[in-house]
Amino acid sequence: MSAFHIVDHPLITHKLSIMRNRKTGSKDFRQLLEEISMLMGYELTRDLPLEDVVIETPITKMTARMVSGKKMAIVPILRAGLGMVDGLQNLVPVAKVGHIGLYRDPETHLPVEYYCKLPVDIEDRIVILVDPMLATGGSACGALDLLKQHGCNHIRFMCLVAAPEGVAKVQAEHPDVDIYAAALDDHLNEHAYIVPGLGDAGDRIFGTL
Ligand code: PRP
Ligand code: URA
Repeated sequence: MSAFHIVDHPLITHKLSIMRNRKTGSKDFRQLLEEISMLMGYELTRDLPLEDVVIETPITKMTARMVSGKKMAIVPILRAGLGMVDGLQNLVPVAKVGHIGLYRDPETHLPVEYYCKLPVDIEDRIVILVDPMLATGGSACGALDLLKQHGCNHIRFMCLVAAPEGVAKVQAEHPDVDIYAAALDDHLNEHAYIVPGLGDAGDRIFGTL
């Protein structure tokens, strides 16, 4: 089974609490999402391998340590995942970005695919799939299915708020994909929204409430 990591640094928890508050407007919501994404990205990339590289400082030659191995790709699930891209790209500026468009059918809560554009060499990259909300897990699993159809086999999923139902679904269907979340909430309500959650992430980011 894949690992489920809660990244609960006090700064992340504090910023997430501001985001949860219904009084927080879109501008602050977006800013906090970007900041949390960068802080979480720091944890998510902790195990990247390093290699020795000989460089010259202004003083002398030295063997320096630099990140090696596979390159990265960041893949947001549209729309809300877009709000997590800039924070991660600040950390890893050379990462390529793919996009997967999915929305939840309001009746069935099942994901409907409407867009997919990925870097041509996606199968050779470590993929960080991002979406602030892991509710039923339908969207995350749909995006993971798509990534695997494109040959990806090194994937991590990063979200802000997870529901137990979504974590269980991703772990059952994609046991190779580690999940990173800032919080594990209590349950889903009758509309499949996370409780206590933060509401509709896409609407709060883009002001479409
Ligand atoms: C939200 C959210 C996830 C999905 C999570 O997107 O950003 O993609 O719901 O729910 P699930 O785990 O039950 O699939 P939504 O479908 O509202 O689309 P949007 O981002 O375009 O608003
Ligand atoms: N999508 C959201 O944006 N929020 C939820 O709580 C569930 C799905």
